[in-house]
Formats: sequence, structure tokens, C-alpha cells
Amino acid sequence: KRLAVFVSGGGSNFKAIHAATCSGTILGDVVVLVTNKGSCGGAAYAKENGIPVVLFPRAKEEQQSLPNDLVTTLREFKVDFILLAGYLKLIPVELVQHYPKRILNIHPSLLPAFGGKGYYGQKVHRAVIASGARYSGPTIHYVDEEYDTGRILAQRTVPVHAFDTPEKLAARVLHEEHQLYVDVVAALCEDRIIWRDDGVPLIQSKE
Ligand code: GRF
Repeated sequence: KRLAVFVSGGGSNFKAIHAATCSGTILGDVVVLVTNKGSCGGAAYAKENGIPVVLFPRAKEEQQSLPNDLVTTLREFKVDFILLAGYLKLIPVELVQHYPKRILNIHPSLLPAFGGKGYYGQKVHRAVIASGARYSGPTIHYVDEEYDTGRILAQRTVPVHAFDTPEKLAARVLHEEHQLYVDVVAALCEDRIIWRDDGVPLIQSKE
């Protein structure tokens, strides 16, 4: 399967996914990296590893000469699945419509708790600690037209410790994110996702 990964930052999830494609744990290839920030760590890693980088939104100068059309670009790369990994911009509606049930996002809380526009980065972990919740963890969900509201596909839990800091909790969750995203994308590439009649997606374990 041909994967597009979208990042805005350091891209540690992207690196974990890419490493898993190289080792054969994921039966797919990252064929393009999309970013809104050409100088981010994820973009640098992609360039070092020979993965084409597409800037979106495009730089102002480029917008005049080229159509600002991500759908066309992804079609050119024959992308099967889109993986958002720390991509902080809302995905254009046209893209969601062109890739129904084929765009995933990872969020660092147990959705539907602590999700939505205001919850990103350390804010999520600060809010979790302040709420007194005893568990947190990453959620992988399908992307729809809103922030963090698409169907939940997979979650994992980590404990929230009595005197936790947002930094420590973030690191604990992020460690789990890398493993979860790799497992989910492996399942995706092996067509091991099934849909329950009520619209809930489930992952079938390997035989
Ligand atoms: C992760 O915590 C992810 O859940 C959130 O943004 C962070 C990205 O981290 N959406 P990285 O860029 O993959 O290191």
C-alpha cells in the first residue's frame, strides 16, 4: 500500500512508521510527506531518506503558478492511505471526501475526552492531569470534517501518576503512540480492518 504521512513537527510517529515499512513490519511504503512547515524535523528526516516532501499550503509565490490542489498531488503519488501524525491544520473537506475511510489521525488522549480544536500539544496533557483522570493514552481515529470527531479505531492506556507533569505524561503517551500507530498501519495495509453494522471500525488480529 502507498502511504502519505502529514506532519507539522518533529515527526517521531512518522519516523516510527517509516522504520516499520523498512523492516517489513508494515507492508507499505511512505511515498510522500506532506507538511505545512518545510523546516520541521519531519521534513528534514524525509529528505534524508529520499521521501518527496510536499508543502501544503504551498508557499505564496508557488500558489500563483500552480493549483493549490492537494487531491491532485496525492493522486499523482497514487496514495492509498493518509496518516496524520502531528499535523496541526484542519484537513480540507475535499480531501476527506476523496479519501473516505482512508485518512487516520493520532491524538494523545483517550477520545472523546480532551479532543477538539483547543486540545493540542501540552495542553492536552495539562488538562488530563488537572481533571484528575487516572488514565490517559493515544487514540487513532478516522478523520472527518471536524477536529478529533471521526470514528475511533484503536486506543491504548497509560497511567497518570499522582505527581505527574505534562512533559512526563506526554513522553509516556508518545512512546505508546509509536507502537500503536505501527500496529494499526500494519493492520490497515493487510486489510485487517472490518466495519461493524453500526459503523464502528474494528481491527482483526493476525491469524
Ligand atoms: C503526537 O503527540 C500526536 O498525538 C499529536 O502530535 C504529536 C506529534 O508528535 N497529534 P510527533 O511529531 O509524531 O513526534
